[in-house]
Amino acid sequence: MEGQRSKVSSCSFVSYCFLFWVQLLPLATGGKVPALIVFGDSSVDAGNNNFIPTVARSNFEPYGRDFQGGKPTGRFSNGRVPTDFLSEAFRIKPYIPAYLDPKYNISDFATGVTFASAATGYDNATSEVLSVIPLWKQLEFYKTYQKNLRAYQGETTAKGTISEALHIMSLGTNDFLENYYTSPGRSTEYTPQQYEDFLVGIAGNFIRKLYGLGARKISLGGLPPMGCLPLERTTNVVGGNECVSRYNDVALEFNGKLKKLTTSLNKELPGIRLVFSNPYYSLMHIIRNPAEYGFDSTSVACCATGMFEMGYACSRGGMFSCSDASKYVFWDSFHPSEKTNGIIAAHLVKTALAQFLE
Ligand SMILES: *[C@@H]1O[C@H](CO)[C@@H](O)[C@H](O)[C@H]1NC(C)=O
Ligand SMILES: *[C@@H]1O[C@H](CO)[C@@H](O)[C@H](O)[C@H]1NC(C)=O
Repeated sequence: MEGQRSKVSSCSFVSYCFLFWVQLLPLATGGKVPALIVFGDSSVDAGNNNFIPTVARSNFEPYGRDFQGGKPTGRFSNGRVPTDFLSEAFRIKPYIPAYLDPKYNISDFATGVTFASAATGYDNATSEVLSVIPLWKQLEFYKTYQKNLRAYQGETTAKGTISEALHIMSLGTNDFLENYYTSPGRSTEYTPQQYEDFLVGIAGNFIRKLYGLGARKISLGGLPPMGCLPLERTTNVVGGNECVSRYNDVALEFNGKLKKLTTSLNKELPGIRLVFSNPYYSLMHIIRNPAEYGFDSTSVACCATGMFEMGYACSRGGMFSCSDASKYVFWDSFHPSEKTNGIIAAHLVKTALAQFLE
């Protein structure tokens, strides 16, 4: 009896200490980023495409089946996307709402907003393929947002929010896979290397515009190993359904150029804190060592047959979907599962984004 009690009290002491530590540490360190402001494609869209006429949508089952007890939102996953996890890591809120969703207003957006649109890219021609929101238009939305934020918080506070907020850019995969290698046009005008340079130029100008609008903390996202997306593996029949190395090489080369851009803009723009957030190696490590993370399947996705489907096709084939998405690296043929998104976000928080948590 005596022994049991002391065991109980020491256990509760330990768990109390643990809770205390877990809660205090982030509170003491995480106060410097008041908002996350997101630009990009389906990797970080939270449902903006639900409110524009496009087929690039996912606001139906089985998407979102693990999102807050089961809710399709327009996120291209079974649950949250990486920026939702980042918002939580910064102790702001568990998910970032979509700018075009009328359920939310400036009081929600003041601490986080995404302007992202699935199927978009740096290149205007990419957003035209499926009639989605081009990057320049996301910037126009952001200007309106700033106006609303000033009205809501007052001039001085809003200025502080903007300069302390972390601005996140996550796009580029569609410029290559949806546009350059699939749609006619760009591949006759540019070599892959010239197209990379064209996109890097757009990225640089976009960052200069964000800076001109008062942003100081910016994360520029790199490309994933896009040759390992299940859709690309499925179609790589001659390559034995392995990852398409040509696409992975382009991703690595493009990431190298984005990293250089980051270095040069940090010199060019006084007071900017621009970081390169690279998902390539952490996702590649998961794909090469799935069992280490508790995954069973990496070349085939959870949704439908897991080989081709995304968007509406995923819905139609949904009855064949896997029962436990956390066993799959990929949710649909083009997008990671929530569990993968969480692992990638946690890695970024420990590396590129760590300085913003201090
Ligand atoms: C935002 O919406 C909430 C309810 O959804 C409402 O209480 C609040 O007044 C709104 N805020 C603004 C600034 O419009
Ligand atoms: C993309 O389109 C916008 C709006 O028409 C235009 O202002 C911008 O210059 C275009 N970007 C490029 C790189 O052509």
